[in-house]
Amino acid sequence: MPENGLGFKGIMKRHCQRSMVCLNLGFMDWKDRVVLVTGGARGIGRACVEAFVSGGARVVLNYRTSENDARRVVEDLGAAVVAVQADASNEDDIRRLFDTAEAKIGTVDLLVNNAGVVGRAKFPDLTGDALMDMLRINTTGPYMVTRQYFRRLGDRQGAVVNIGSMRVFQPTSVDYAASKAALHNMTISLARAMAPQVRVNTVAPGFTDTPMHEGNRNRLEDEARKSLLKRYSAPEDIADAVLFLASDRARSITGQVLLADNGRSLA
Ligand SMILES: NC(=O)c1ccc[n+]([C@@H]2O[C@H](COP(=O)([O-])OP(=O)(O)OC[C@H]3O[C@@H](n4cnc5c(N)ncnc54)[C@H](OP(=O)(O)O)[C@@H]3O)[C@@H](O)[C@H]2O)c1
Repeated sequence: MPENGLGFKGIMKRHCQRSMVCLNLGFMDWKDRVVLVTGGARGIGRACVEAFVSGGARVVLNYRTSENDARRVVEDLGAAVVAVQADASNEDDIRRLFDTAEAKIGTVDLLVNNAGVVGRAKFPDLTGDALMDMLRINTTGPYMVTRQYFRRLGDRQGAVVNIGSMRVFQPTSVDYAASKAALHNMTISLARAMAPQVRVNTVAPGFTDTPMHEGNRNRLEDEARKSLLKRYSAPEDIADAVLFLASDRARSITGQVLLADNGRSLA
């Protein structure tokens, strides 16, 4: 991401310029809350980490391979962030992630299931094993992280926000769309299972300018042209939606999918 090395004040200034979150939702809601963001070192996850910290939360930033990016976020944001390496699709790693989070920062109040991957293989080249890998990361992973979160929550009130995808409504690749569709559906069953203690919702982004699209800017521009609002999203746009659903302002909302796709799926 081009914003690295701005420092805490620089990042907060940029956030307040790009987003109303720190003005409207931030300082009001997050003080003393502990938030876990999976895949939080870059892209949408990083924007969520920054937005929560700007509002006074303490954040557990999970990363899998992006160690340098994670280190930079911690350097920029300081003691409010603890970075923990873990594969969010591996049950042992997830247990260790929560053990470390609890030891270093406290019980996780709010969870953002952001970690995810896209596939490149098309049908019929896509193998069954590759499909299973995608489902493990994009669907089973968020399930296992949520399960661990709920088991450790005690009697606290909580909220889970999953990152789904607009691609559920306009499927292209079999594996990605199927994995996110399952996540959207799981949002309802988990909202039922954890009510009334925990609200569960999903933000379904459309095309968003993150490292996921590195080397493919033409695609982003093309998708922007096809959208109703003639734009693609910045990671901060998606973070705004995530923070809203995680906040008490969404206190009457559970089991829902919020599309944040600039109207692309309607075009
Ligand atoms: N960008 C878009 O247009 C778009 C649209 C719709 C939905 N989304 C969804 O938004 C979420 C964030 O994606 P992004 O666009 O910000 O892309 P990104 O920059 O590629 O970020 C994906 C993040 O997921 C993490 N991750 C992947 N597998 C993991 C695992 N097993 N354990 C822990 N972390 C893992 C990666 O961590 P490491 O780098 O540390 O490995 C990375 O930080 C994903 O769920 C994606 O499907 C994105």
